[in-house]
Amino acid sequence: MKKPVIAIDGYSSTGKSSISKVIAQKLGIIHLDTGALYRGVTWFALQNCLNEDGTINLNELFSSFDQIELEFKNVDSELILFLNHIDISKQIRTNEVSDNVSLVAKQKEVRDFLLQAQRSQAEKGGIIMDGRDIGTVVLPNADYKFFLTASIDERTKRRYQELLGLGIEADEQQVKENLIERDKIDSEREIAPLRQADDAIVIDNSLLTKEQTIESILAYIQKI
Ligand code: DC
Repeated sequence: MKKPVIAIDGYSSTGKSSISKVIAQKLGIIHLDTGALYRGVTWFALQNCLNEDGTINLNELFSSFDQIELEFKNVDSELILFLNHIDISKQIRTNEVSDNVSLVAKQKEVRDFLLQAQRSQAEKGGIIMDGRDIGTVVLPNADYKFFLTASIDERTKRRYQELLGLGIEADEQQVKENLIERDKIDSEREIAPLRQADDAIVIDNSLLTKEQTIESILAYIQKI
């Protein structure tokens, strides 16, 4: 049987990535967290393409794409991103990257640069990819599409705990403001905005545990 291609989109901190990771392990497929790609490019820009006032110089970033090499290594079903041979898993979760990533992700040049890198990972099937435009743009022919949502307070709590778990200091109010701001930019941008695909199954997991969300997604996959 051909292994499925699954698209998971939704708001920030709805648990998309951690849920997708478990589903990948249960189904014996691989997982790609596409947010990590946008975060990786943002991290690169913060290192290499800054204006004097500390903001990102987008034109400099666009002309530096040929200096960015993206590779993925499969570790326990998880595709880990290496940028220019560096594992940047921890660096891309900092507040500095979170505060700048939506601005970078809304640029057409950046989205075009990352599109093929995402699609090529799905060519052989057997993948669950999570992001904002997977069901609508990256993999419109995915076998299954899900759209996750949850209340802002619940999502704030989750992101705050995640940061603490990573040993990153955070202020809960700031975390909330960052989430609201990012959702706004992601939903209102012109290119590939955060939007539910017409054929996606919507799951509000405000009152669900991670395990319950996983169960409900697996139930759909096994039922269809
Ligand atoms: O899922 P995340 O919070 O790590 O994503 C980081 C940012 O990347 C988020 O603000 C929106 C953007 N993103 C996107 O525009 N398209 C995707 N497929 C994945 C993420």
